[in-house]
Amino acid sequence: MNLTDRPRRLRRDGVREMVSETVLDASDLIAPVFVDATTDERVPIESMPGHERVPVEESVARVEEVLETGVEAVMLFGIPKSKDDRGTRTGAEDGVIQEATRRITSETDAYVITDVCLCEYTDHGHCGVLEEGVGGAHAGEDDATDGDDARLTVKNDETLDLLGKIATSHAEAGADMVAPSGMMDGMVAAIRESLDSAGFSDVPIMSYAAKYESAFYGPFRDAADGAPAFGDRRHYQMDPANRREALREVHLDVEQSADVLMVKPALPYLDVVRSIREEFDHPVAAYNVSGEYAMLHAASEKGWLDLEEVALESLVSIKRAGADLILTYFAEDVAGRL
Ligand code: PBG
Repeated sequence: MNLTDRPRRLRRDGVREMVSETVLDASDLIAPVFVDATTDERVPIESMPGHERVPVEESVARVEEVLETGVEAVMLFGIPKSKDDRGTRTGAEDGVIQEATRRITSETDAYVITDVCLCEYTDHGHCGVLEEGVGGAHAGEDDATDGDDARLTVKNDETLDLLGKIATSHAEAGADMVAPSGMMDGMVAAIRESLDSAGFSDVPIMSYAAKYESAFYGPFRDAADGAPAFGDRRHYQMDPANRREALREVHLDVEQSADVLMVKPALPYLDVVRSIREEFDHPVAAYNVSGEYAMLHAASEKGWLDLEEVALESLVSIKRAGADLILTYFAEDVAGRL
């Protein structure tokens, strides 16, 4: 054993910080914000302590709270005033995201990213238009969870047209960046084309390139009221068992001109973050999702974990794995400590 080489020498106060390999900065963080057109007061989200759905009127105030902590970017999610089988409200000029984006971008300096997806806007809760004769509020009522393939197909190419229109309506409202999360094949190209032809060639696309069919989204689905009314999202979101497929997905998105590549969830998929970091030069984002947030809160409520410490350690780990940007419900709490 060689006891002349002692790594512990560099772990003392004073030098420890200097040799730290990973720096987390408030400017790496993006705070998710929920805007709800069905309420006129703030509604706490039970499974995500500290987070709430805010009415459009409160959206500027909510974003100002985020900015005060040092976090400069927000990701907006909308809960529309009504839903239908095609998610019509998602592209409406007076839609919840469009209204909130207009206010936030004109009244604050926040960098506004919008989630582009249909699941919060469709009555069936799926991320696209369903096969003819399937869907609508009553689809699958009798066998709500049997996962019967024939009933669950989201029509990929028909959904693409809608995604393009939605993203463009967000850009028209002032969105700085759009983030398609539906895992439709070709979604980045469709959105790029729609944005470019409407004169928004400067608006970047952060693609949820490798989004897994994950049970860690549970609390979010309560928060955004976007749980599928029947079946699951296996037909379009990725199998948690697959890493190589994530690289294939990312390749396709890069070919379609994605600007930022996202992996979601974050902590259970740090190997995927690392692989993408090594193989691509694009900025990589990781989404530290609702379940990752909720589990740390639940354990800390029991007194089993120190919330501040585990939150910070989680985010540093995501960064160390190779993420440049982190979407996290801890953004505001952690930014204050950086
Ligand atoms: C919508 C969307 C989801 C999340 C972000 N965008 C839910 C889903 O796919 O079911 C989850 C975020 C989180 O859990 O924090 N497509």
